[in-house]
Amino acid sequence: MTAAEATTEPTAAPPFRVRRARTSDVAAIRRLVAPLAERRILISKESVAYFESIQEFRVAETDDGEVIGCGALHVMWEDLAEVRTLAAADSWRGHGVGHALVERLLDDAAEIGVQRVFCLTFEVRFFERHGFEVMADQTAVDPEVYSELLRSADEGVAEFLDLARVKPNTLGNTRMIKWLAGRARE
Ligand SMILES: CC(C)(COP(=O)(O)OP(=O)(O)OC[C@H]1O[C@@H](n2cnc3c(N)ncnc32)[C@H](O)[C@@H]1OP(=O)(O)O)[C@@H](O)C(=O)NCCC(=O)NCCS
Repeated sequence: MTAAEATTEPTAAPPFRVRRARTSDVAAIRRLVAPLAERRILISKESVAYFESIQEFRVAETDDGEVIGCGALHVMWEDLAEVRTLAAADSWRGHGVGHALVERLLDDAAEIGVQRVFCLTFEVRFFERHGFEVMADQTAVDPEVYSELLRSADEGVAEFLDLARVKPNTLGNTRMIKWLAGRARE
């Protein structure tokens, strides 16, 4: 079974599916992010930023068409990407929505040739269950790539590089990485 076909069987909650996001999902994505941004768990962005990056997103949707979760895979380099903007609706927490989204995003990463996936999170245990490890230092990036990544205007890349200017955003978060070795490409 692929992550896209994942259901909520273990908890017998109503089923949902994970699908590629559509432009019409931007409002729902913003609604999912808003309360988390208020608590400084995620960063809120303007609608235009979500439209521009909509092809990075997957959403979880109930049979009734309600969007109950979202997550994105942002490519940073040839072998490196970030799972970002991962969110499950409050009323759906603990029913496998986050699990299905992360697995789908990791499949997406493997499919396009990414070997390492980064995330910056308070949800250390959740990501550990998905094979992520706490990053001890910056050795995941060689100095040459590091200097290339410095040219990026993306805030998430700055957070990955642990740059001083984004430290206020990352306070209390843990930087984690997962190696995708062995994950099948479609
Ligand atoms: C992280 C987050 C997306 C997880 O969403 P979720 O849908 O509650 O996650 P899941 O239900 O898949 O997993 C949560 C727990 O429920 C359990 N669970 C219950 N039913 C499950 C099922 N059917 N399938 C898989 N796991 C299930 C899991 O064991 C898991 O336990 P664990 O955390 O100890 O691993 C959610 O907590 C969230 O939105 N957090 C705020 C935003 C955030 O921090 N994002 C990460 C940084 S980008």
